[in-house]
Amino acid sequence: MNSEPIGVFDSGVGGLTVLSALRTTLPHENFLYLGDTARVPYGNKSASTIQRYALEATHYLLKQDIKLLVIGCNTVTAEALATLQAEFPDLPIIGVIEPGALRALQASKTQQIGVLATRATLQSGAYDRTIKQHANDAQVFTYSAPLLVPLAEEGWLSGEVATQTVQKYLQQVLKHSIDCLLLGCTHYPLFVPLIQSLLPEHITLVDSATTTAQATLLQLQKMGLENKQDHHGSMQFYVTDDPLEFSNIGRLFLGQEIFPQTVHLTGLKPF
Ligand code: DGL
Repeated sequence: MNSEPIGVFDSGVGGLTVLSALRTTLPHENFLYLGDTARVPYGNKSASTIQRYALEATHYLLKQDIKLLVIGCNTVTAEALATLQAEFPDLPIIGVIEPGALRALQASKTQQIGVLATRATLQSGAYDRTIKQHANDAQVFTYSAPLLVPLAEEGWLSGEVATQTVQKYLQQVLKHSIDCLLLGCTHYPLFVPLIQSLLPEHITLVDSATTTAQATLLQLQKMGLENKQDHHGSMQFYVTDDPLEFSNIGRLFLGQEIFPQTVHLTGLKPF
């Protein structure tokens, strides 16, 4: 059981930011990453569609004998975490919203927190609710930044188009006197250097990747599921569309070649 892989699921390439943090925190674990690249973006879809996609992905990963699931996607965590927990009561599932909320609260002195997320995450109210569960008086200003997702999937992380787009989104959130900006979408950390260069210095930029990895470590320890092998764990990648673009961008993220395999989620069969 302990040598079985951890499943990491995202709608596309963005969850690699979470995988990267997981690899650093849990170097001896084996990982199976599934990016639903055929159906990305999830962030502008309805809750019921996102739940259906998340169920299909989790069924697929369970067939690969994962011991724990990390939902490396804010939108899926916001809209489908409860559905997945109800459907798979024996599978430990870690989402990114609570770790992200806790990270923002650690980083903020004024408890005035800006959140950039997808439309579906924003509409779910998940960040607002979760941050306020931990700090009643916190003020949360959430805005959606939908164009950053296709830009990230294309690898357009800097340059004129990316800069103008990020500027436009930051204008909205900077109307409030926040001291912390939480990137509440797995794709947005790809723009950290750009966002950082446009953000006033007193605003701390955070994302949920590191705290999600910490939460995963704690869960593994609690359940006695840590992989004790003394060498580095493996990574395997599944995508639901053409693997080429995914390998090109994924390589930039993980600093190594990756060779994704294309799978069909609905049929639950390899391509
Ligand atoms: N992975 C999604 C998230 O973190 C962003 C991409 C999408 O919209 O599917 O919210």
